[in-house]
Amino acid sequence: LVAGNWKMHGSHSANAELLSGILAARPFACDVAVCVPFPYLSEAAVALAGSDVRWGAQDCSAHDKGAYTGEVSAAMLAEFGCRYVIVGHSERRAMHGETDQLVADKAKAVLARGLTPIVCVGETLGQREQGTAQATVKRQLSAVIHALGHCVGEMVVAYEPVWAIGTGVTATPEQAQEMHALIRAQLQAATAHADAMQILYGGSMKPDNAASLLAQQDIDGGLIGGAALKAADFVGICRAT
Ligand code: 13P
Repeated sequence: LVAGNWKMHGSHSANAELLSGILAARPFACDVAVCVPFPYLSEAAVALAGSDVRWGAQDCSAHDKGAYTGEVSAAMLAEFGCRYVIVGHSERRAMHGETDQLVADKAKAVLARGLTPIVCVGETLGQREQGTAQATVKRQLSAVIHALGHCVGEMVVAYEPVWAIGTGVTATPEQAQEMHALIRAQLQAATAHADAMQILYGGSMKPDNAASLLAQQDIDGGLIGGAALKAADFVGICRAT
């Protein structure tokens, strides 16, 4: 799975150009998705209708409905035909105070509506330097595994080392594989479906470094930020699979 996380980027004209560029490059040998800002969900749904390019949101509420001004529920997203919802992106953990428990609750809410959560985990540079990277990722994943129970196998996990996001510094294939193998082992302890689960890498993935990351045994795709905003770059990564 190669999923684009557009973050807070886009406009009617830019989206139309990007989506038509992606559609024109089909077929791909992998699952492909774009996670767009809320206001553009319906135009993405229209543009991608009838294609195998999937689309999703970048966050949702842990609640189903109610007095939560500014929030969007998984139920609303499901009405649009949305397939994925990113939850627990490091930018939301850092800038919106999202805790492991809230992220787990959001993942549960997404699954309850039949959508697939893309659950992001990853350590900061400080945590890596202190030698707590593995413990951090394990703790983040544990909360979600605990909340999802027998549905654990239905989520997608994205390992995004915070120090690699938007910095141009990519984890080496070996660094990424090491963490992905630990994530796989943790999932194996929780579900019989772990070997079939998609564990994505995110953090400065580009067309020229994608192949070496994706060649690793436990790297099953990418969650792409900056390079998802230009069709040629995004398509280049999809082709690298
Ligand atoms: P970049 O690809 O821009 O580093 O962003 C990665 C990311 O945060 C995807 O969710």
